[in-house]
Amino acid sequence: MIEKTFLVEGPVTSERLSELDIDPDIKNFRPAHIQKKALTQIASGEIEKVFIAVSQEKIIGYVAFHLPHEMTRWSKLPFIIELGAIEISPNWRYCGVAKALMIAAAAHGFMENHVVTSLEYAWHWDLKGTGLDMFSYQNVLYRLFSPVGFEVFCTDDPDIIEHPANIFMARIGKNITEEKKEQFMDLLFTGEKWF
Ligand SMILES: CC(C)(COP(=O)(O)OP(=O)(O)OC[C@H]1O[C@@H](n2cnc3c(N)ncnc32)[C@H](O)[C@@H]1OP(=O)(O)O)[C@@H](O)C(=O)NCCC(=O)NCCS
Repeated sequence: MIEKTFLVEGPVTSERLSELDIDPDIKNFRPAHIQKKALTQIASGEIEKVFIAVSQEKIIGYVAFHLPHEMTRWSKLPFIIELGAIEISPNWRYCGVAKALMIAAAAHGFMENHVVTSLEYAWHWDLKGTGLDMFSYQNVLYRLFSPVGFEVFCTDDPDIIEHPANIFMARIGKNITEEKKEQFMDLLFTGEKWF
């Protein structure tokens, strides 16, 4: 039996990403080569961060943190950063790669200066590839994020309330003051409507 080993690196630079191949099966959100370009762009930002899992000079998983989209309420507070995506190649799933990436990201100090949000939309999930139903999949994400300090928050964000399996989680960094925490709490319910 071939033993599968991987290393976690991060935050990585765009130069480091360009040295590596990407597993072509990393295509949950978009084709692998396009996702690699997107990761390279994110990694070139000052605040944004990308962590990768690598095996034999190939990216087999990643987690990316970027600034919230300017059209969303979450962009109103400069200390919010969004966990944009975490994705593991189907060839490497269910063997702790995502967990290792989250542990590495949480161990890096950047999270302590931010509220890190994670807006989990059921329509992005790989139900077919994992064989999980929506609520089991939601549970996998909870088991992935909660051990590193993410908590579930209720919100009236229209994208979150659009589907009952969607979930909003956030991690409040140790250096976030009470005042900033209150500002974040005030953003959870704004009465925002779609139209
Ligand atoms: C969700 C995803 C990132 C999980 O990655 P992974 O490397 O397989 O996860 P891990 O092996 O680190 O497992 C994390 C936890 O979920 C559980 N888990 C993972 N896959 C599971 C499965 N198919 N069935 C049951 N539990 C599962 C693990 O047991 C572990 O929980 P535990 O620590 O309590 O035992 C992966 O399936 C994926 O890339 N999906 C497509 C993209 C996606 O949906 N991303 C999330 C939204 S951005």
